[in-house]
Amino acid sequence: MNIAIIGSGNVGSALASGLHKAGHTVSFGVRNPASAKSEKAATLVTGVGFSTVREACAGADVIILTTPPEAVLALVPELGDVKKKVLIDATNSIRTRPEPYATAFHALKAITQSEKVVKCFNSTGFENMANPVYPGFSGIDMFCAGNDAESKKVAQQLAADIGFGSCWDFGGDDKVELLEKFALSWINLAIMQGHGRNLAFRVVKR
Ligand SMILES: NC(=O)c1ccc[n+]([C@@H]2O[C@H](COP(=O)([O-])OP(=O)(O)OC[C@H]3O[C@@H](n4cnc5c(N)ncnc54)[C@H](OP(=O)(O)O)[C@@H]3O)[C@@H](O)[C@H]2O)c1
Repeated sequence: MNIAIIGSGNVGSALASGLHKAGHTVSFGVRNPASAKSEKAATLVTGVGFSTVREACAGADVIILTTPPEAVLALVPELGDVKKKVLIDATNSIRTRPEPYATAFHALKAITQSEKVVKCFNSTGFENMANPVYPGFSGIDMFCAGNDAESKKVAQQLAADIGFGSCWDFGGDDKVELLEKFALSWINLAIMQGHGRNLAFRVVKR
């Protein structure tokens, strides 16, 4: 697939690297290719070029947003016509949010009027996105949410492509805020409770 990753920081770099290695055509859409984060991404990620947000999105089937959540308000006009593209929101509105919306997902749906918006790649640390494999497990789990079943299938396929185990369907639009709270649960354990960022969630069933 042709994938535009908006933002070239921790999450953007981890996803770009994994998706490129999985055989996708990936480009970063950035506001400043000379920023410290873009320069670091250029050293970490090979095979992924940088362009403006508008250029990266023009040829993309999938757009993944990896910026601070409030940035989406200014970014939407740059994304172009997104109605036929899958828009994946990897942001978390924990410290800031795109006022007056609860999350970037809600802002994207309301402003673009697209149904093909899905929340994914928000529920674990970027280190786990760069390497989802833990000793003894084939891959940790990822989670996605949103009303559009086809968009969730695309997100689930991309999660599998970069090495996640299952990508659980967390539910519809009504579960997006819960999925952000789930991300906060990871942050709580990893950072606030001091267990470190090398921990991950995996669902077990019997
Ligand atoms: N860090 C994690 O482990 C993690 C895990 C899950 C989800 N998340 C979520 O993912 C998002 C990104 O986190 P991160 O750690 O990757 O952040 P980061 O390293 O600070 O990178 C943020 C990127 O967004 C870009 N950006 C910021 N404001 C922008 C704007 N107004 N327009 C265009 N681009 C803009 C930055 O561009 P410049 O280079 O120009 O500054 C940078 O490339 C956040 O919403 C976070 O909540 C983070």
